[in-house]
Amino acid sequence: MNYFKKILRYALPYKGYAVLNILSNAFYALFGTLAMVSLIPMINVLFGEGEKISVKPDITTANSYMNFAIDSFNYFLTQKLEQDGPEGTLVFLIFIIISLFLLKNLFGYLALYFITFLRNGIVKDLRNDLYGHSLELPIAYYSDQRKGDLMSRILADVNEVQSSTLSFLELIVREPLTILFGLASMFFISADLTLFVLLFIPVSGFLISQLGKKLKKHSTKVQEESGVLLSTIEETFGGIRVIKGFVAEKSFMSKFSKTTSRYNNFSNRLMHRQNLAGPVSEFLGIVTITALLWYGGNLVLVKHTISGGAFIGFMSLAYQILTPAKAMSKASYSVKRGNAAAERVMSILETQNTITDTPDALTKFDFSTAITFENVSFKYDNDMVLKNVSLEVKKGQTLALVGQSGSGKSTIANLLSRFYDVTEGSISIDGRDIRQIQKSALRSTMGLVTQESILFNDSIRNNLLLGKESATDEDMIHALKIANAWEFVEKLPEGIDTNIGDSGNKLSGGQKQRLSIARAVLKNPPIMILDEATSALDTESEQLVQVALENMMRNRTSIVIAHRLSTIKNADIIVVMRRGEIVEMGNHNSLMSTDGNYKKLIELQSFQ
Ligand SMILES: Nc1ncnc2c1ncn2[C@@H]1O[C@H](COP(=O)(O)OP(=O)(O)OP(=O)(O)O)[C@@H](O)[C@H]1O
Ligand SMILES: [Mg+2]
Repeated sequence: MNYFKKILRYALPYKGYAVLNILSNAFYALFGTLAMVSLIPMINVLFGEGEKISVKPDITTANSYMNFAIDSFNYFLTQKLEQDGPEGTLVFLIFIIISLFLLKNLFGYLALYFITFLRNGIVKDLRNDLYGHSLELPIAYYSDQRKGDLMSRILADVNEVQSSTLSFLELIVREPLTILFGLASMFFISADLTLFVLLFIPVSGFLISQLGKKLKKHSTKVQEESGVLLSTIEETFGGIRVIKGFVAEKSFMSKFSKTTSRYNNFSNRLMHRQNLAGPVSEFLGIVTITALLWYGGNLVLVKHTISGGAFIGFMSLAYQILTPAKAMSKASYSVKRGNAAAERVMSILETQNTITDTPDALTKFDFSTAITFENVSFKYDNDMVLKNVSLEVKKGQTLALVGQSGSGKSTIANLLSRFYDVTEGSISIDGRDIRQIQKSALRSTMGLVTQESILFNDSIRNNLLLGKESATDEDMIHALKIANAWEFVEKLPEGIDTNIGDSGNKLSGGQKQRLSIARAVLKNPPIMILDEATSALDTESEQLVQVALENMMRNRTSIVIAHRLSTIKNADIIVVMRRGEIVEMGNHNSLMSTDGNYKKLIELQSFQ
């Protein structure tokens, strides 16, 4: 129950509601029991049984308050019978019974009413924390996890936790109280019979606990499989063009149906087990009741130690405590499932962010002199993808990174934005290690244009506002003009308020690139990191993008991962990468004059 306990911390802000729930449940249990007890005088009246008391009881002579209360009630009833006869008394008793059941259900509803705030509050806070924490987690975490699994934790597992909190409260308050009150009344009616009933409880308890044993394992499997399910759906929708283009519908369908079959399989097993809980405890209950009938019947018929009415009342009470016993066994399963879900939820919350700000990190920072890489080595997993990289870019310069695919160019951009921390060596800006600058301050000085344009399903305006929240329409149009994007945005039916579709799919490739450039321009950062897209654009849009890039780099310090000859040519420093190492460094003319990798690369490009 460890994980579940951790989740219960989320209930703390709502503890007032928990208290109200507990109070209401106490009344629920009390009136539930009284309602059953009130059947006794009714049956006694029906069959003309029951104690007749014609002398008004006196509190000073009674041996207990309880006896005094019962005697008073019987005295009152005797009076009533004499006055109104059995029919009139019956109506009166029915009125009492109805009132008691009404009160019981009223408090039952109130208990649920209050707990609703707690349940939904937990869901809200938990989801907010999960989302907030997810935003904090480093990029590396997302490379290792399945997105669908994370989604399933934030959606399905949180729901599971929610429903089990309710079960938990029922388990520890409502049902135990109902049982307690019930047992107390039963004891009062007949201690003998109650002891007899109690013999059966440990036996049932043992049988029921056996059932719950494998539940957590099954439940975890079900939730894991639902993560796979979500992942598949998410990837399918994201890659629908490729799936259709490669006529891969069948293979995706079969992959999906394998997942649903496994899911089906696991949830069948889980539900079969859960479904057993009800019938098993009901049957065990009936066994107890029939044993009671036999034993209690003897007491009524042969030994005459209790009245028929009391016996029926007792039976009703016994049945009444069976329901909570059943509910408790069900609730304990639900809590077990909740624990499995809580474990999955907590594992996100407990994932430590490895990319942290040092306590003395700068909160505000202005770039003034240079960016320096000193002997930087880096590995994502096992193999070093950058080895001993040293370079320097002075303020105002443009550094171009060139080299074959997989040589580590994007990795350098990742390290500078601190999406990952270097494995060895250091990166510093103005002589200060970037680990000593707050991530937010560091990233505010940088504009990032990634290799693939990352846009959101929203209007152009809102996509641009990510760059600068306070931007005015003029600012946006200015940025769009620099990015060479205004000419197409202007023509859109709703201008900058046009929705660009999922991941910007209503735009062309070149338009998307220009829009992400505009977003970076709007941010107007001193340092620009640009991972040029390699995707082949037609000559015209290539030129449009090229002009956009040149506009953007003007008067800025830029690190450009360059594929276009013209971008490279104008760079102050060109770094040629090969398998994670710098093999050549210089400007265009100096590199062309040495007959090396760079010259070969350029010659290859010129042939295209
Ligand atoms: N998230 C990751 N986890 C593990 N390995 C990675 C990850 N990202 C990149 N790599 C590996 O690191 C190496 C360098 O990748 P990088 O993305 O820096 O190449 P690149 O020079 O940008 O290539 P391209 O020109 O194709 O974009 C590659 O071998 C790649 O397989
Ligand atoms: Mg790359």
